[in-house]
Amino acid sequence: MLEIAENGRTWLLSGTTSSYAVHVTEDHEFLHLHWGPLIALPDAEALAVRPLPDYRGFESPLDGREEYPVEGGPRFTRPALSVRTDERRGTEWRFEAYDTEGDLLRLRFRDAEAGLGIALHYRMRGDVLERWVTLDNQGPAPLELLRADSATWTLPDREGWRLSHLHGRWAAESRLVSAPLTYGEKVIGSRRGHTGHQHLPWVALDTDATEEHGEVYGCALGWSGSWRIAVAQLPDARVQITGGAGHDDSGLLRLAAGESYTTPVFAGLWSDQGFGGASRAWHAYQRTYVVPDAERDRPVLFNSWEATEFDISEEQQATLARRAAAIGVELFVVDDGWFGARTSDRAGLGDWRPNPDRFPGGLKPLADYVHALGMQFGIWVEPEMVNPDSELYRAHPDWVQYQTGRNRTEFRNQLVLNLARPDVQDYLWEQLDTLLSSAPIDYVKWDFNRCFTDAGWPGEGYPQRLWVDHVNALYGLLDRLRAAHPGVAFESCSGGGGRIDLGVLSRTDQVWTSDNTDPLDRLAIQHGFTQIHPARVMAAWVTDSPNTQLNGRVSSLRFRFVSAMAGVLGVGGDLAQWTEEELAEAGEWVELYKKIRPLVQHGDLYRLRPPRGGLSAVQYVRGDESVVLAWLQAQHYGEPVPALRLRGLDPTASYECLETGEIHRGAVLLHHGLRTGLRGDLDAAVLRLRRI
Ligand code: DGJ
Repeated sequence: MLEIAENGRTWLLSGTTSSYAVHVTEDHEFLHLHWGPLIALPDAEALAVRPLPDYRGFESPLDGREEYPVEGGPRFTRPALSVRTDERRGTEWRFEAYDTEGDLLRLRFRDAEAGLGIALHYRMRGDVLERWVTLDNQGPAPLELLRADSATWTLPDREGWRLSHLHGRWAAESRLVSAPLTYGEKVIGSRRGHTGHQHLPWVALDTDATEEHGEVYGCALGWSGSWRIAVAQLPDARVQITGGAGHDDSGLLRLAAGESYTTPVFAGLWSDQGFGGASRAWHAYQRTYVVPDAERDRPVLFNSWEATEFDISEEQQATLARRAAAIGVELFVVDDGWFGARTSDRAGLGDWRPNPDRFPGGLKPLADYVHALGMQFGIWVEPEMVNPDSELYRAHPDWVQYQTGRNRTEFRNQLVLNLARPDVQDYLWEQLDTLLSSAPIDYVKWDFNRCFTDAGWPGEGYPQRLWVDHVNALYGLLDRLRAAHPGVAFESCSGGGGRIDLGVLSRTDQVWTSDNTDPLDRLAIQHGFTQIHPARVMAAWVTDSPNTQLNGRVSSLRFRFVSAMAGVLGVGGDLAQWTEEELAEAGEWVELYKKIRPLVQHGDLYRLRPPRGGLSAVQYVRGDESVVLAWLQAQHYGEPVPALRLRGLDPTASYECLETGEIHRGAVLLHHGLRTGLRGDLDAAVLRLRRI
């Protein structure tokens, strides 16, 4: 709901449990008023007339109170907007007007001297407020956007703010870390050209919240290129969070006369239900407004990567497909190695035609075979890349990002295509459209396996558009392919979880969470991932034991399955090597997953205990049904394993545990807990509950 004060200068946006208010003074100062529990318009108006502090000389009364701090004038905070012309730097703006379009509020400002129009957008969806900015060069001269953040978020005065965020690296993404905020700035981001394994673009701030209680403020950026979120505790202890595309302040884009730039969305959420409540609100928002077709179940998939890597053939994939179908897999995916001269990572990227030795009749015969087995068919691609040893690179060595006279740095023997170039976009569209038309393909795993290094575009002046345009070209390609092939689902992958954000999620059906498929490490990765993103998009595979990719850890099929069943279940082990007993057991787990899938993929998630060495568990609740997935890493000294206090149940109802047949009273489960029966090391259980 949007309410506007009579003077047309105070705006209040309210969701189901939270409100957000801003105000423009007569002096054209754009002030933040409120972000937190629901308030009424008179409350916002009362806040609007509170005088600013009377600082003298060395501090600015605006700092920490402005809704979108621009550079210049009486401000010393990190600016959200920094603009340069030939003659001047900074922005002096005046409020022009506001307008609304459904639930969208647009506030328009203008810097007349610079000829810059600035429109700030607000849209409340559930309790998530989406914010973004459009910058419009309305003058005759070019403007340089040194920095153009999507939003600045202002927190209320409190003592003892704590910052939580997700950090990691390849095969170790999304690990949750929390620390008290101190004076100064904490900056996270990526200067790698993609979202990065190092941080998901999300932060949460609280003072005393727990998993299920207390106030939590969260912000998440929807951008799949380089980005930055800076959290600052200012000299008077006020806290602001500013973020947007690009990592540095040295030039994002040059706007020629008449050109405009729209920032990505920076979304914010307030919850007084602790980190769990904040996560559930983020999940509901993504399932309702962000992820395409989120109401549809994601199928159980098999992926060939860990089983066969680059050594693949049609016959061998058909053998795997038969085994996959027999255990209940619904989508069979051929990973890397099916195209061009791709027999190792040294060649073939860029040539998106089936390898004639491996697939003499193209992909159609295998796709048909997989369909005849009752499964969907999927393939792997990495369209933004090229191996120097490829037909594409030999024909177009200038299509990659490079700088004249400098090295072309190879990572994994590959270079990054310059997707800002229209001819590269045309080529990729033609290749991928042809590929998707050549065989009945239902799913595409879209990978991205190296960071930008020599990001240059000879002939183009600085600042070069390619950082921003690469991402927009990726989005454009995905949008166009989705429109032309509406039956095809897409997975975002970047060497595991290197490209996971609200931007890519708005055009993909799921993401590859991590190349780390060790079921124990995954619990921590999933614990972090679900702080912001829902299980509905969190792909997780059961692979071989001992773990072949990382650590050789030995674990039971039970532990591996229960770990992967917390998200979108997949199987990635070498089924050709699994025994009949293992295949039979796998079939039972897949069957069980299909029963709990509606809860996992569409229900409310409660993280009952974090994975910290002993017992950990998550619970999903949907209507009258609930399921608990519990893992015991190690039991020490024969100590009894604690009961799990459940959440989201009706205390006055009774619940039957479908695994044990026991009847439990809701109040008992909520206050005294459910016993899991887990013991020893690396044990796991699935416990379904149905209200009776
Ligand atoms: C990285 C991905 O994360 C893996 O799952 C696999 O697809 C490889 N790339 C293939 O090269």
